[in-house]
Amino acid sequence: MRIVLLGAPGSGKGTQAQRMVERYGIPQISTGDLLRAEVAKGTPLGLQAKAAMDAGQLVPDELVLAMIRNRLSQPDARKGFILDGFPRNLSQAEALDRMLEEMGRPLDVALLIDVDFEVLMQRLTGRRTCESCGRVYNIYTNPPKFDERCDVCGGALRRRADDNEETISNRLRVYEAQTAPLIDYYRNQGKLRTVQGVGEIEDIFRAITAILDPIAEAEKEAAEAPPAAGAAPAPAAAPAREAAAAAPEAAPATEKPAAKKKPAAKKKPATKKKAATKKKAAATKKKAAARKKVAAKKKPAAKKKAAAKKKAAAKKKPAAKKKAAAKKKTATRKKAAAKKRPAAKKKPAAKKKATAKKKASAKKKAAAKKTAPKRKAARKKAATKRKAKARRR
Ligand code: AP5
Ligand code: MG
Repeated sequence: MRIVLLGAPGSGKGTQAQRMVERYGIPQISTGDLLRAEVAKGTPLGLQAKAAMDAGQLVPDELVLAMIRNRLSQPDARKGFILDGFPRNLSQAEALDRMLEEMGRPLDVALLIDVDFEVLMQRLTGRRTCESCGRVYNIYTNPPKFDERCDVCGGALRRRADDNEETISNRLRVYEAQTAPLIDYYRNQGKLRTVQGVGEIEDIFRAITAILDPIAEAEKEAAEAPPAAGAAPAPAAAPAREAAAAAPEAAPATEKPAAKKKPAAKKKPATKKKAATKKKAAATKKKAAARKKVAAKKKPAAKKKAAAKKKAAAKKKPAAKKKAAAKKKTATRKKAAAKKRPAAKKKPAAKKKATAKKKASAKKKAAAKKTAPKRKAARKKAATKRKAKARRR
């Protein structure tokens, strides 16, 4: 699980991160703690960072980014991490995204611990930190059981150099101006989750686990699931998750004080070579992944083109059909016209027939007229004969 913890100075990032380390077995990477360790050792980085820290200002990006890159490349960070106090501005957030993309291990969640500014001053002036194990206390709200001694390791408790009112005010101003915009940055990525940071420390932790447990569970299931037969090759992030599942106890969960770590400059050349080959391998993997992404993006585009062509063709088809239909129409019109023409020619014949018929009937009528008086006369003759016969009787 890869987490960024967001929140103003004193919101409880360090307090909650320590509990998350215990529960999820991933290291807390606090840029503030790493820088303080460098200051304590008096390294060139520490000397460069000190002035900015004392003033409550941000340490230059290039120093912090180099430190983070180095820390994230360590084996215990392969199974996940809690970034506490980093990123602190937009350019750090963008650099982190690029770094994680190169590693094929994108962020899972940006968790904001939301606390009103009025509460923060008292929290920070009352903070005490174990110089041995880094456990955080507060003389007002979360005091140690034994005065000025750590409950866990018995180490001496110290007040941080920047926990004075003037520096705290500056840190709050810097947070508002430079870090608060990250809330929208992660919201826009769909990765922002928020918990209210006021109330009992354990209640706040419960709210945090309600968010993180499902993510951790899903990650565990994905790591344990056997690869399906004929499945596509695992994404670039898979090796890290597999490694985390295979060797959860391989690296210490809590971040060791940086003072105990070997400085990067003292690394043997062989390790440097190894690191370089690892980097190269990571870079080629990244490139391949990027190519795949591009190809994957291109495919749908090609599909779209094909679909557009089909549509155009489909549009053309009706036009062709229309043409054919028009042709048919003209053909039928022509046929009809052709049919009509002989009909027109036939007309005189019909007329002739009609006139012939008329003539015939006229003839008949004329003939009838001619024969009618003869018949009448014959009928009269017959009638007079019949009358004469009757008289004789
Ligand atoms: P950093 O160490 O990161 O300090 P910060 O961001 O100011 O945050 P804090 O550590 O002060 O607060 P926190 O949220 O961890 O609160 P905590 O849990 O301790 O940075 C220090 C400096 O380093 C910066 O100013 C900058 O100069 C430099 N720096 C660091 N990262 C950088 C970067 N990325 N880029 C550039 N510069 C960088 O709690 C605070 C107190 O409240 C404790 O006493 C605790 O017991 C108490 N408390 C916690 N929760 C509760 C609760 N629920 N109720 C009551 N009390 C509580
Ligand atoms: Mg802190």
